[in-house]
Amino acid sequence: PLVSMKDMLNKAKAEGYAVGQFNINNLEFTQAILQAAQAENSPVILGVSEGAGRYIGGFKTVVKMVEGLLEDYKITVPVAIHLDHGSSFDKCKEAIDAGFTSVMIDASHHPFEENIEITSKVVEYAHSKGVSVEAELGTVGGQEDDVVAEGVIYADPQECVELVKRTGIDCLAPALGSVHGPYKGEPNLGFAEMEEIGKLTNMPLVLHGGTGIPTKDIQKSVSLGTAKINVNTENQIASAKAVRETLAAKPNEYDPRKYLGPARDAIKETVIGKMREFGSSNRA
Ligand code: G3H
Ligand code: ZN
Repeated sequence: PLVSMKDMLNKAKAEGYAVGQFNINNLEFTQAILQAAQAENSPVILGVSEGAGRYIGGFKTVVKMVEGLLEDYKITVPVAIHLDHGSSFDKCKEAIDAGFTSVMIDASHHPFEENIEITSKVVEYAHSKGVSVEAELGTVGGQEDDVVAEGVIYADPQECVELVKRTGIDCLAPALGSVHGPYKGEPNLGFAEMEEIGKLTNMPLVLHGGTGIPTKDIQKSVSLGTAKINVNTENQIASAKAVRETLAAKPNEYDPRKYLGPARDAIKETVIGKMREFGSSNRA
């Protein structure tokens, strides 16, 4: 059941739902997300930032951990291991060589021609190994690990068309007002641009910064061609809350299984809620 994102996302776009990318931070996140996917009979994308990869031990540890859980949990739904916001060709290659089935090359902060050049190089290598590629244009706001943005820049539709044509990517993340981490107030997503980019490129679109986007905006995004939605912060908040509550209720507890177990359950519940909201339940 380890697969690239390509078929997963083309099917989602054709059938009108989105597959969740849920970022893994440690073993418990990975367990919770896989348990949720199996329980919901949903395809799932495990997002791994470079920082999370380092924290877990390295890309090889990530792949072996996921492979172990797929076997022990008897997971039958499609699962992709995806490098989130890959910063260079070398990092993408390292992930691919370790066994990731998908990578994002985030060269969006480079000048346009350089973005095309780097992304093309990643596509050439990734596709030779059956690995899918996501690219970004514009700037997602906020901060996630090593990825810090000073402001929000909306993706330009004509540049999106050119990037897709010249690189051969499998899906596109056009930044259209979404933010990593909690939103200050309501998000202001560029739906007109999203519609235009979806029509002009015919690509499955990716929505970053899924935490805190209201259901109506999720539904509208999916109707305009968004086939992948990334969520990290919401699971982190749910897990931290469970740890705090558990330790507050039992101040003498010291067995990590006793406070990380409830955190794992909280993540699983949160992911199940998202899968239902994104419409990916029972689509495996
Ligand atoms: O790449 C990961 C996501 O865009 C996560 O965003 O932490 O705001 O949910 P989030
Ligand atoms: Zn992101």
